[in-house]
Amino acid sequence: MGSTIYYFSATGNSLTIARQIAKGLENCKIQSMAAETPHEPVGGPDNPIGFVFPVFYIGLPRLVKRFAQKLNIRKGTYCFAFINFGGYGGDTLGMLDDILKEKGVYLSYAAGVRMPGNSIVRYQASASHVVQKLIKNSMDKANEAAGAIANGKLQPVKRNATLLSKMANRGLYKGISEWDEKFEVAGECTGCGLCAKVCPVSNIKMEKRRPVWQHHCERCLACIQWCPCEAIEYGKKTIGRRRYRNPDIDAEDIIKGRTQGI
Ligand SMILES: Cc1cc2nc3c(=O)[nH]c(=O)nc-3n(C[C@H](O)[C@H](O)[C@H](O)COP(=O)(O)O)c2cc1C
Ligand code: SF4
Ligand code: SF4
Repeated sequence: MGSTIYYFSATGNSLTIARQIAKGLENCKIQSMAAETPHEPVGGPDNPIGFVFPVFYIGLPRLVKRFAQKLNIRKGTYCFAFINFGGYGGDTLGMLDDILKEKGVYLSYAAGVRMPGNSIVRYQASASHVVQKLIKNSMDKANEAAGAIANGKLQPVKRNATLLSKMANRGLYKGISEWDEKFEVAGECTGCGLCAKVCPVSNIKMEKRRPVWQHHCERCLACIQWCPCEAIEYGKKTIGRRRYRNPDIDAEDIIKGRTQGI
């Protein structure tokens, strides 16, 4: 018996939740969805699999959608998902459930929690006492979820705002390839290359010790948030805005996850 959690995390919130749930499960591996999708079938009656990831645009991050669509899951697998979001999760769990149902499985346990928002193109990071409070609450919820999952509890998806989520997710992802053209790098850049390393889809190349975006961005904002010099801006919108990174996660954790299980 052993379980696997597949996670996606740009700024660490989902990774810290995945780790917390894994602690409560027997023999649980954690695998990044930014690494290669397993070719072999996964799961089975004694091998639950889980998905932990953020909500993007009231729905599934594209990377998560692609990963779930590709994943080959054995029939009879207990599947679970635990999402996190800055304010509103819409029908994200339902969207994942639909993908799984096409494979003959479904989410036996579905839950979500509010975490600090990281969408710096819209707002700056919350103050640290607010961040701490949200993280503490989400760790409690993750423990609760781990206990339920370990006992095979059934908590299926409650569908919610299905049409709104579908339309918003599709609409807001429009123009994705040109989106990264607004990234700018200021003089403070030291050429350390961290932005390129944390990018989940290798969308940044270092040229003459400066990042250059390659126009296949997922909009996860990891690059701008993890830059140690705050040298990256998204047009004028992000100037002076406080950055967000989960305080319990390092850039190395994000980088390591792309190439190996944690
Ligand atoms: C592109 C993008 C879109 C987002 N859309 C939503 C959203 O629709 N609703 C919401 O509540 N939070 C939204 N967020 C906030 C994230 O879901 C939230 O901060 C999450 O905890 C980040 O997880 P991570 O640290 O694992 O990357 C969005 C963040 C990004 C980067
Ligand atoms: S992470 Fe920041 S300082 Fe390092 S190369 Fe990228 S932009 Fe420059
Ligand atoms: S370029 Fe930046 S925002 Fe785009 S996918 Fe990579 S890390 Fe995320």
